[in-house]
Amino acid sequence: MKVALIGYGKMGHSIESILAERGHEVTARFGRDGIDKQALQKADVAIEFTRPEGAFGNIAACFECSVPVVSGTTGWLARYDEAVKLCEREEGTFLYASNFSLGVNLFFEVNRHLARIMNAYPEYEVDIEEIHHTEKKDAPSGTAITLAEQIEDQLKRKEGWTMDEQHSKEQIHISAKREPDVPGTHIIRYLSEIDTIQIEHTAHSRKGFALGAVLAAEFLPGKKGVYTMKDVLKI
Ligand SMILES: NC(=O)c1ccc[n+]([C@@H]2O[C@H](COP(=O)([O-])OP(=O)(O)OC[C@H]3O[C@@H](n4cnc5c(N)ncnc54)[C@H](OP(=O)(O)O)[C@@H]3O)[C@@H](O)[C@H]2O)c1
Repeated sequence: MKVALIGYGKMGHSIESILAERGHEVTARFGRDGIDKQALQKADVAIEFTRPEGAFGNIAACFECSVPVVSGTTGWLARYDEAVKLCEREEGTFLYASNFSLGVNLFFEVNRHLARIMNAYPEYEVDIEEIHHTEKKDAPSGTAITLAEQIEDQLKRKEGWTMDEQHSKEQIHISAKREPDVPGTHIIRYLSEIDTIQIEHTAHSRKGFALGAVLAAEFLPGKKGVYTMKDVLKI
């Protein structure tokens, strides 16, 4: 498979190693200087891990060049629905995930299930904590936002999320910590006067994200439309 890497930072480099291990060829690497559309068109699929301000334009360029695109950039999701509509209009192929690791996608399922159970136990208050490396640009993490949206979806007493310490009872509080060399930790805590129930996912390296993104890239060629990691991992 011929792959174009859009964004060649920490994730771009990790993805390149996994692609080499799995016998794929990187035919183009694009950074903040922009995309060469002729070079992009030669790829079977593009993998985009850049910065929030560049993601939408990069994804749109892939639709224009008829190249399926996997995107993992976080912090741009206010334009996700627009990207989906553009994908449909241009008959493109698109897969976005706030987190590509198999473990986090399993954790998402546990989170949904626990939130559903908690409808019957209003004495528990829920909050989310995420910890990432100090170079991470956005807060809270895209994964923490996905976790909050899943809880909101399942737990009837909750609506919306906030990072503000002063929040309403309905809102889910997310706290974001930045510490050196932490690839990504997410904790969901249900606290009552009597006890705490806590689930936690800790990434040990970036390898899980990179492998998931490559599995998504292997899944897309030959397909049309919008997909998620649930389709790739068959969860
Ligand atoms: N979904 C997931 O599973 C997952 C996992 C980990 C990280 N992420 C997200 O992935 C993104 C990248 O993370 P990272 O750790 O690789 O960051 P990084 O090391 O800072 O790399 C970002 C790269 O993108 C380049 N870039 C910036 N703006 C661009 C643009 N408009 N077009 C093309 N390239 C551009 C940067 O170039 P310069 O070096 O020239 O600035 C840099 O090489 C972040 O949003 C992060 O939150 C997602």
